[in-house]
Amino acid sequence: MIELQHTTKTHDESRQGEALDMLPTGKSTGRKLYIESYGCQMNFSDSEIVASILLDNGFETTKDYKEADVVFINTCSIRENAEQRVRNRLKEFESAKAKNPGLVVGVLGCMAERLKSKFLEEEKLVDVVVGPDAYRDLPNLIDKVDDGNKAVNVLLSREETYADISPVRLNSNGISAFISIMRGCDNMCSFCVVPFTRGRERSRDCHSVVKEAQDLFNAGYREVTLLGQNVDSYKYSVAEGETPGQVVNFAQLLAMVAEVSPELRVRFSTSHPKDITDEVLHTMSRYENICNYIHLPVQSGSSRVLELMNRTYDREWYMDRVNAIRRIIPTCGISTDVITGFCTETEEEHQETLSMMDYVKYDFAYMFAYSERPGTLAAKRYEDDVPEEVKKRRLTEVVNKQQEHSLYRLQNFVGKVHKVLIEGFSKRSDQDYCGRNDQNTMVVFPIDERFKPGQYVHVLAERCTSATLIGRIVE
Ligand code: SAH
Ligand code: SF4
Ligand code: F3S
Repeated sequence: MIELQHTTKTHDESRQGEALDMLPTGKSTGRKLYIESYGCQMNFSDSEIVASILLDNGFETTKDYKEADVVFINTCSIRENAEQRVRNRLKEFESAKAKNPGLVVGVLGCMAERLKSKFLEEEKLVDVVVGPDAYRDLPNLIDKVDDGNKAVNVLLSREETYADISPVRLNSNGISAFISIMRGCDNMCSFCVVPFTRGRERSRDCHSVVKEAQDLFNAGYREVTLLGQNVDSYKYSVAEGETPGQVVNFAQLLAMVAEVSPELRVRFSTSHPKDITDEVLHTMSRYENICNYIHLPVQSGSSRVLELMNRTYDREWYMDRVNAIRRIIPTCGISTDVITGFCTETEEEHQETLSMMDYVKYDFAYMFAYSERPGTLAAKRYEDDVPEEVKKRRLTEVVNKQQEHSLYRLQNFVGKVHKVLIEGFSKRSDQDYCGRNDQNTMVVFPIDERFKPGQYVHVLAERCTSATLIGRIVE
């Protein structure tokens, strides 16, 4: 999945999704929920579903965990340090629990699914453990805890998509929002814990996706990002209406969402190189409002390593997909994920990753040292035999290379005019606005009173920093 921030740093799982103060939509119980999210955008999106379920059950939200009655932490298992960060954070909740013994502490998401009831033994302050498909059960589980029990629900589902739940937009800028279009993953990349924590792949009703996009547009939002672990395998068989039995694929879904309004930008993440089709690329080029930006994780540039990773494509296939993108959408931005030091990776194979990066010159990348995850195919089959310092050194080389390429891409944008959706004030100054261009690059420019957040402006990029374009409105 792509990240919320657009920097050249290595992955940071520590972004916290604190709930803004919101009032209950159901009968008030006066109880306050605090929720914090780690990991990928799917988790942030799930927290919005959780908040919606609890608001319907009389809760209100708070952004201060010290005044909460229920503290939820929505967790990530993707790498060991992601889990470590959550454990450290739980320690910080201990004093709140000591002050307020009635405080309910819940662990949600991927770590909950991975560790199940073991969590209750390992972390004594935790009262509830809930997996990603069991959020509808939360009110019931909280009742159990109120009755003095511990509560666990980690059942995975083949159907649950939360299609009928309207997410409560947390930490929102009111301009851009995520829409989950599918859950789970049926790929078995050997390094990856997601198929175990998120279960089988299932696609959400296309009509509910379009409705959510329309509702967001009506509420003033101007950008949606369609989310799934592998959006290109989206497939929904229409049950009723005008075309029962029709199967809607990802390209068709993209077009349906793009049709909501030409003023609504559509983005998506993540594309799997084995599944991204020319049909998707042609759909992107047909609609001006589908952004020219693709996150296409390569993981490694070596065909042998890709085979061990069970990615089901090789170096040539990946390059062919990049060529297709460049041919059909010449201005498309491309980003990637890279893992260094996967089991048995040699120095030459690492060089192949670097040469792949030279070939594509990614606009942006998320880069990681391999972290063995218990239960995955790689953990069972292969020895984690690349020494930590070698993984780190290779990671540094990959990061350095990416910095060169990010700068190269940014410099190419300088001197050009970009259509930018204004998201709000820049982080650094309330004299400046910020927003993204089509290729997802952040652009900062002085405020012009004629334009407000949510509007599109044309900005001439005059210079760049390491990750941002700086310019001025020209129209
Ligand atoms: N569905 C997405 C990936 C989601 S996980 C895809 O297929 O691209 C996000 C990224 O985390 C992956 O692309 C991978 O680069 C990284 N990752 C996953 N498991 C990892 C592990 N065990 N060690 C290091 N990085 C890992
Ligand atoms: Fe993990 Fe592979 Fe699925 Fe991505 S496609 S979530 S890397 S198993
Ligand atoms: Fe996402 Fe982390 Fe789970 S990346 S799917 S929250 S393991």
